Amino acid sequence: MQDSILLTGGTGFIGSHTAVALAQAGYSFVILDNLSNSSSKVLDRLARLNASPLAFVNADVRDAQTLDKLFGEYKFSGVIHFAGLKAVGESVAQPLRYFDNNVNGTLQLLQAMQRAAVQKIVFSSSATVYGDPASVPIQESAPLTSTNPYGRSKLLCEDILRELFQADANWQIALLRYFNPVGAHISGLLGEAPNGVPNNLMPYVTQVASGQREFLQIFGNDYDTPDGTGVRDYLHVMDLAQGHVAALRALNAPKLLTVNLGTGQGVSVKQLVDAFARVNGVPIAHRYVARRAGDIAQCFADPTKAQELLNWKAQLGLDRMCADAWRWQSMNPQGFDTPL
Ligand code: NAD
Ligand code: UFG
Repeated sequence: MQDSILLTGGTGFIGSHTAVALAQAGYSFVILDNLSNSSSKVLDRLARLNASPLAFVNADVRDAQTLDKLFGEYKFSGVIHFAGLKAVGESVAQPLRYFDNNVNGTLQLLQAMQRAAVQKIVFSSSATVYGDPASVPIQESAPLTSTNPYGRSKLLCEDILRELFQADANWQIALLRYFNPVGAHISGLLGEAPNGVPNNLMPYVTQVASGQREFLQIFGNDYDTPDGTGVRDYLHVMDLAQGHVAALRALNAPKLLTVNLGTGQGVSVKQLVDAFARVNGVPIAHRYVARRAGDIAQCFADPTKAQELLNWKAQLGLDRMCADAWRWQSMNPQGFDTPL
């Protein structure tokens, strides 16, 4: 049996791009996803990109029997755990669903890994674990907190993984705290396909550009930031995908790594909208409205540790993020249902 990687949530936005990066780096992998927020048509796109999984398993990560069967069938050298629900507003309305899916899902996975003696995991954490940071750029040592059930679920999973490492230092664990992933694969074959009205800025901008939505609402222009709009650390999803390959390589011995994956550059909503319009030659109609509840003024990474520990650094700038996001949207007006 050949060593391979299990990708939970591998048909999702970040997982599918990571599949391409893994294939390019010579890894084989199996995808497990319950398709609760993705399409099986992603698999056709992965095939076009020479990044087909060894197998696709349509199952829930909380399904212990399926996990045991899978760990019996394949000799996994590690797991990258993307499977999770990620909508902050929804998590406030449905906390139990979020805790069950994200925390119980992680527990079931870790227990199955323990039964199978697989002790290497790369976990999708988030900059949300910093809450409203006291200062930017944010270092990994900053205090951790949560302001909603989604954020709490990520923090609880981090706690579980830290406790696990305390109990058994043979584990190889990477807690990757992503900042704001955007963009798409350069081919236009993979990208972000949110259901319904997008919550996040870039998919909303691309839908305004395509005429699907009339205008962008910019949530607040009275923040204490250079132009008054919110500042974030937007990161190209292919750079983020490479970060997972780098994390697997860095987990070459028992250790627990906690690493920010961001560019280190703060970009305002207005700067992103202006860059998108300039790069793609498409104006983005927008109106300033009230702040969105729960939003913070500024959030961007200190990415020093990623460079030191993973030998990883973001390569692609804001213009590429905007160009690739627009190519994906233009080529796929019906998302993954668009015929190839
Ligand atoms: P996504 O929704 O596109 O992908 C998640 C995938 O997991 C989906 O394909 C979904 O069907 C699957 N899934 C969810 N629950 C599952 C379950 N119980 N069993 C099996 N499959 C399940 O989201 P994404 O943007 O690719 O995010 C991947 C991970 O990264 C998530 O854990 C998310 O919380 C985390 N993250 C995302 C961002 C972001 O801005 N996109 C930022 C920080 C962290
Ligand atoms: N924004 C708008 N209009 C929109 C959408 C967003 O002005 O229609 C603004 C927000 O106010 C914010 C910025 O664009 O200033 C980015 O907003 P996103 O919703 O794209 O991203 P957030 O930083 O709010 O949240 C993201 C993830 C969360 C995660 C958080 C921290 O969606 O899951 O990063 O990692 F918790």
